[in-house]
Amino acid sequence: MILAADKNSVIKLINQINSGNPAVIPTETVYGLAARIDQPDSVKKIFTIKKRPFFDPLIVHIYNQKQLRELTHFESPIIQKLCSQFWPGPLTLVLPKTDQVNPLITSGLDSVGIRMPSHPLALEVLKKIDVPLAAPSANLFGHTSPTKAVHVENDFQSKDLLILDGGDCQVGIESTVLKITPNLDSQKIELAILRKGFITKTQIEQALIEFKNNYSFLDSVDKKSSPGHMKHHYMPKIPLIFLSQAKPIPTLLELIEKDFAKIPDKIEEIQIRKPIFPIKNWSTLEFSEDAALASRELYDKLKTHAERNVQILIFEKKPFMNTEAWEGFLERISKAASLSY
Ligand code: TXA
Ligand code: MG
Repeated sequence: MILAADKNSVIKLINQINSGNPAVIPTETVYGLAARIDQPDSVKKIFTIKKRPFFDPLIVHIYNQKQLRELTHFESPIIQKLCSQFWPGPLTLVLPKTDQVNPLITSGLDSVGIRMPSHPLALEVLKKIDVPLAAPSANLFGHTSPTKAVHVENDFQSKDLLILDGGDCQVGIESTVLKITPNLDSQKIELAILRKGFITKTQIEQALIEFKNNYSFLDSVDKKSSPGHMKHHYMPKIPLIFLSQAKPIPTLLELIEKDFAKIPDKIEEIQIRKPIFPIKNWSTLEFSEDAALASRELYDKLKTHAERNVQILIFEKKPFMNTEAWEGFLERISKAASLSY
């Protein structure tokens, strides 16, 4: 059930969460399905409702530094700087966790993902509950993330699930995930971006310019340190084809008929969408030329195009998308694609 953003709705939603039932809050990135971290049964329900595997860790949402210190004991001027520069906002910090964080939330890892969202309603709920909230994106596992309250309602089709309507998410793609690890040998801090997003590596480097001798950026991360990061994700209902450069339609149709026959039905638990051949109709996705606007539009466009009566969706990467600002957008849309050329 979608609740209009008024005082009574906020109280109703908070009561629901406090009574041990996850409910949906808006954030500036995407809507999140939230449970109190001190209620393991409620956290477990998040996985059941989303049909999410337990190996995929959840992000913990906070509203102040006191909560941060309860979740991690690791302190460094680098962390302070990142928090003051980017919080509240779309940056998740993965930090060594304290015993207060249930392994259920972190999938047994010794680190925890933490974020202070900037959406005023998310902050209000967090402040009133006064316990950090674990919240993954409020969509079924593998589906496209929700950037409008109605997206959540359509995905879950449950009347009991309360969804606080905070309008359209302004960032529109999930937060940048930055892992921060102390390296005891070199005395330096290691940084690694596990998921790209609105906040880029260059912005992080600029923020940390005065500490540039105290950290190193790892370019690649092993699969183990980035669970939940599958090859495919965010798939719309109709198969999407990703083109890294323009291709004439007849050539493309011939190619995909051959290539779809070769790919498995499931990759890493994610169902790969496939069309029925021959292909007679398709829809081409067009986006704003501004990376931030295109990211804001992305998930809604994928969802609305997938409601059309077409057999495939086609996205063609444009030359102006070759800048860092587009990386988060491109990472999402290429994972949403069944085939890429
Ligand atoms: O913008 C966002 O981050 C949204 C909103 C609701 O805050 N949340 C979100 O959560 O996207 P979710 O569950 O869909 O994505 C969480 C991902 C995991 O799949 C994993 O890749 C990474 O964050 N993650 C979380 N904790 C981690 C940890 N301890 N180590 C490594 N990766 C972690
Ligand atoms: Mg998600």
